[in-house]
Amino acid sequence: MRMLWKNIKGLVGAYELPPAYLKGKEMRGFSCIENAWLAIEDGKIADFGAMSDFPGIVDWSGLEVVDCTGRFVLPAWCDSHTHLVFAAPRDGEFLARLEGKTYQEIAEAGGGILNSAKALEALPEEELLNSARFRLEQVIRQGTGAIEIKSGYGLSTEAELKMLRVIAALKSEYSIPIRSTFLGCHAVPEGKWTAKSWTAHVIAELLPKVAEERLADYVDAFCETGYFSVADTEALLKAAHAFAIQGKIHVNQFNAIGGVAMGIDCQVLSLDHLEQLSASDLSALALRADSEQAPVFACALPGCSYFLSIPYTPVRSLMDANVPVALATDYNPGSAPSGNMSRVVQMGMVKMKMHPLEAIAAATINGAAAMGVSDVAGTIAPGRSANLVLTKPMSGLETLGYAFGEEPVEKVFIDGVQQ
Ligand code: NIG
Ligand code: FE
Repeated sequence: MRMLWKNIKGLVGAYELPPAYLKGKEMRGFSCIENAWLAIEDGKIADFGAMSDFPGIVDWSGLEVVDCTGRFVLPAWCDSHTHLVFAAPRDGEFLARLEGKTYQEIAEAGGGILNSAKALEALPEEELLNSARFRLEQVIRQGTGAIEIKSGYGLSTEAELKMLRVIAALKSEYSIPIRSTFLGCHAVPEGKWTAKSWTAHVIAELLPKVAEERLADYVDAFCETGYFSVADTEALLKAAHAFAIQGKIHVNQFNAIGGVAMGIDCQVLSLDHLEQLSASDLSALALRADSEQAPVFACALPGCSYFLSIPYTPVRSLMDANVPVALATDYNPGSAPSGNMSRVVQMGMVKMKMHPLEAIAAATINGAAAMGVSDVAGTIAPGRSANLVLTKPMSGLETLGYAFGEEPVEKVFIDGVQQ
């Protein structure tokens, strides 16, 4: 199968040799070739360039020529933070919030994550897998071409392993890159547990099993007042190091309690949420970004800010401090029941003042790097899988943010095949 896409209004994120990620100040310079062409062969990117340098077609056999006039082509979205495996929606809690309760009040009354855990425990693995397949296929059709998925609604050894096996099944069934994260410390289960004793149990009992069965690429904890302390989170991250599993943590969603500096010290790959960012958190991230050490991504989740009406992560300050920023959906039944990355990019522009190329870089190249798949996703390069988004005709990339009620994606291709 051979395709030639021509007259592309803007080909975004195409490189002969792509960088692994972009630091804050570089994000606005994410590559965009105006009036471009792109060749795809056997599901892979073959070549690309500007129409002014188009070499012409030598071999017409089996070639499908697609006229992309007015449309942009982007790398498929890379969603580096989701809880896509869950048993049931929590729309009743949404209604309770509309009637005046807060997310925290609902959680304290046994709703929230504990509510999801009860539903998950009761659901047979096959049904959990079926619902996850359905959601995954839906987000792929919306343009997602690489995704990270967390456990964390198990809250028992058996149920956590069930979630992780479902993610493993998705990995084997779908060709897009999928990364799994063991979110062992998400909420304290009901009963005899404290945050400290549950963390100790996770470290002693669950983590070794998860590592032995190779069910997790990353480890995660909800480092937050009322959930897991900085010390609990640090203990989990250090224990995971012994199994060579890196951290990607939920931190500073409601309170800045010191998780940022600790996470950086513990060499996490990403710090996610950061709706509350103190001046010392920002300087710690800036210092790390200016060092020669491996990057620590700040991953903003605007769908969660929107849905819970909490502050948006100050990504403008983070990017100005040269911190590499990623955008992800946080797709989950409680705080962000949407896996639509185009919507996240739109919010990045409107609510977080990101330039179109900054928002797109955060949702592609940096999202890929924030889940360790930048060698195969997040940019368009010869030899890579043709996982691409073709937009509707639009006057500029800013239309992705401007036309906020419209679906900007016209077609999605995975391995060169339209979804
Ligand atoms: O990222 N903050 C912790 N975890 C999820 C939401 C969990 C839930 O409400 O189900 C989040 O927002
Ligand atoms: Fe989350």
